[in-house]
Amino acid sequence: MLKVGVIGLGSISDFHIKPYANNQEAKLIAFCDMNQSRLENTGKVYNVSNLYTSYPELLADKDVDAVSICTWNATHAEIAIAALEAGKHVLVEKPLCTTVDEAKRVEEAAKKSGKVLQVGFVRRYAKNTKLVKSFLDNGDFGELYYAKASCIRRLGNPGGWFSDKDRSGGGPLMDLGVHMIDICWYLMGRPKPVSVSGHTYSKLGNRANIQNLSFYKASDFDASLNSVEDLATALIRFENGASLYVDVSFTLHAVKDEVAVRLYGDKGGLELEPQLAMTTEKHDTIINITPQIDHLNFQFEEAFQSEIDHFVSSCLGKTTTLSPVEDGLEVMKMLCGAYESASLGKEVLL
Ligand SMILES: NC(=O)c1ccc[n+]([C@@H]2O[C@H](COP(=O)([O-])OP(=O)(O)OC[C@H]3O[C@@H](n4cnc5c(N)ncnc54)[C@H](O)[C@@H]3O)[C@@H](O)[C@H]2O)c1
Repeated sequence: MLKVGVIGLGSISDFHIKPYANNQEAKLIAFCDMNQSRLENTGKVYNVSNLYTSYPELLADKDVDAVSICTWNATHAEIAIAALEAGKHVLVEKPLCTTVDEAKRVEEAAKKSGKVLQVGFVRRYAKNTKLVKSFLDNGDFGELYYAKASCIRRLGNPGGWFSDKDRSGGGPLMDLGVHMIDICWYLMGRPKPVSVSGHTYSKLGNRANIQNLSFYKASDFDASLNSVEDLATALIRFENGASLYVDVSFTLHAVKDEVAVRLYGDKGGLELEPQLAMTTEKHDTIINITPQIDHLNFQFEEAFQSEIDHFVSSCLGKTTTLSPVEDGLEVMKMLCGAYESASLGKEVLL
């Protein structure tokens, strides 16, 4: 039985807590949030009585074997390192942290501790990703040489810490780009990134004036501060000659929201989002393939259950994580490289 603590009890924490509660091999025993009333409410809902307003107190709890870190991005590295040093396994929400230097320190702490460090790249654990990966691993699409991903929100700056660069590390690139870059890079076979050319734009602000359209908000929503970009684009080149183009926005004058993940190989191509689709060539004819499965699109709750189940199994020594710390570090290099390129106005080598 794995005894688990959850640090940070905001919006995403439910997608950790419920899957732990569903997992027969895990037991939720401790919660931490610096917001006292949120802490007490969540404790009541899930019948957890070891409640802490400061994470070092939770980490000092000898009964806790593993923690989920669901706090602001800029706190991830500090809490992850402290947890590993306290002998806990760690599932840290994406992004791993906010700088490459921090990522290297988390990697060092993970190696030293011998504990599991899983990065919350939840899309890797989705059923459709696993299905597509089995096709890719069998060579059905040949060599992937180009990928393209978009996560465009017309109106969706979550406000609060998300829009405060000091606490988030950045805007849509850090928040949404991390998922898009990671899932493409993972499916491409994790080629070594060699350079990135990025652009960021802060043209529209957070558009707090807009009415009649609702959007995702941080638990402590506050539109008064906005120091992050509203659009970011990046072109990443890999050592094997492949390339990846990504564009992500918190707001943009687009006619609709869009999530798209597309990969192209020399034997076929695929779309993972908005819904699974594949194409190839047979007997001089182009054919599209539609897998006959329950859901062609990304299933948020199911993917979180799968991610948490995999983490629990890894901590119990039954499997190894699909999203290890070294992958978190490589993704941080691409994200930070894109910001550096945008500020320098030229391509940067990684
Ligand atoms: N995997 C996904 O698809 C996904 C989706 C949303 C958010 N996230 C990630 O989850 C994390 C949290 O996001 P959220 O939307 O839940 O934010 P949120 O603002 O709703 O919740 C964050 C919580 O952390 C608490 N907190 C912050 N610093 C703390 C500290 N040092 N000690 C104790 N508590 C602290 C806050 O009080 C708050 O309750 C972020 O890293 C975000 O990127 C991931």
